[in-house]
Amino acid sequence: MSIEERPAGAGPSGASANGAPPLIEVRNLVKHFPITRGIVFQKQIGAVKAVDDISFEVRRGETLGIVGETGCGKSTTAKLLVRLLDPTSGQIVFDGQDVGAANKDELKALHREMQMVFQDPYSSLNPRKTVGSIISEPFAIHGLLKESGERRKRVQELMDRVGLNPEHFNRYPHEFSGGQRQRIGVARAIALEPKLLVADEPVSALDVSIQAQVLNLLRGLQREMGLTLIFIAHDLSVVRHMCDRVAVMYLGKVVEVAPSDELYSFPRHPYTGALLSAVPVARPHGGRRRDRQLLTGDVPSPANPPRACRFHTRCPKAQEVCSQEEPLLELKSGHDLAACHFPLTEAEVRLRLPTGLSGTAASTNAHGTGQIADQSSSSSST
Ligand SMILES: Nc1ncnc2c1ncn2[C@@H]1O[C@H](COP(=O)(O)OP(=O)(O)O)[C@@H](O)[C@H]1O
Ligand code: SF4
Ligand SMILES: [Mg+2]
Repeated sequence: MSIEERPAGAGPSGASANGAPPLIEVRNLVKHFPITRGIVFQKQIGAVKAVDDISFEVRRGETLGIVGETGCGKSTTAKLLVRLLDPTSGQIVFDGQDVGAANKDELKALHREMQMVFQDPYSSLNPRKTVGSIISEPFAIHGLLKESGERRKRVQELMDRVGLNPEHFNRYPHEFSGGQRQRIGVARAIALEPKLLVADEPVSALDVSIQAQVLNLLRGLQREMGLTLIFIAHDLSVVRHMCDRVAVMYLGKVVEVAPSDELYSFPRHPYTGALLSAVPVARPHGGRRRDRQLLTGDVPSPANPPRACRFHTRCPKAQEVCSQEEPLLELKSGHDLAACHFPLTEAEVRLRLPTGLSGTAASTNAHGTGQIADQSSSSSST
């Protein structure tokens, strides 16, 4: 997407519909990992095009979902956003500041404002440190709350806030379940009250029965703290009730960006259609059968992506032009931006897609509270 082709709701200057500038703007972001050969004299023989010219923005207080199959560049995007990785080219502007141009001190200050929750709650916590010292790390790094007892008190408040027992301050990560460890990761991430939280598949490694509890925790914190949230997932079922808008990635490219409701009811990109078609649907009263359009084959290598439209090797609608001209990410209908020469039609969507998604951790409960249904019988934190 070019800088000019801003997501719907954003003005030409990057201001969102309500006039406020976006919290984060990503412009033509690229990350290529070099492939080298040779032991003494390393020669670059190619590159893994993990992220290849993506642009999007996130408004203050908004939750943006980023979805795509494994290997399509989601984690690389997340790490670029908080500058755990340096981009090959492109720009990230956070709250008016150029993240790529930040020096060491400016970056340290930026990391107070933007934090990440990692996918694997088992490897992201140091097993030799107590929970108390893990959660107080951000205070130590930034030299905050130095008075005796002050730091411990704050850490215990944070533990309470994320649903952990504050008395377990001196326990080690191995004494906690996967869900509880992810809560520790969340407590550490919110300790400095950041403006932006990037959650990279925060529930993928967890049991389905406890996914909903962690999702509800993130939603609750987002509302209470006015957080802006970027929520990454590899399937669309989890993001539906979490996100205001969703960006779909395929092989390093953003192929569709739309408000959640629009994306789910009328996806325009055949890749989004295939991802949605794969979501299991309960049909308790029979209902209409759908012509599921499942993805076949593996994702091609990002070291050698297909020409023009990268999805053309797997797309059921591909025609000759798809392998010759790269489709631009442009407005197709409503507020839906999609990069496709032959976007899905209403008839195709009606035939292939579920009328409603259910049967996963992401289904809403029957009381209309917006809480994500908890499939666990346990009421304690997991
Ligand atoms: N440090 C790295 N060096 C080389 N290749 C990498 C590195 N990190 C990620 N990749 C590659 O970049 C591609 C995108 O990876 P990633 O961003 O982790 O995808 P996702 O999170 O969507 O699964 C993959 O092909 C992956 O192997
Ligand atoms: S441009 Fe062509 S190959 Fe690519 S998604 Fe659209 S129809 Fe399929
Ligand atoms: Mg990943």
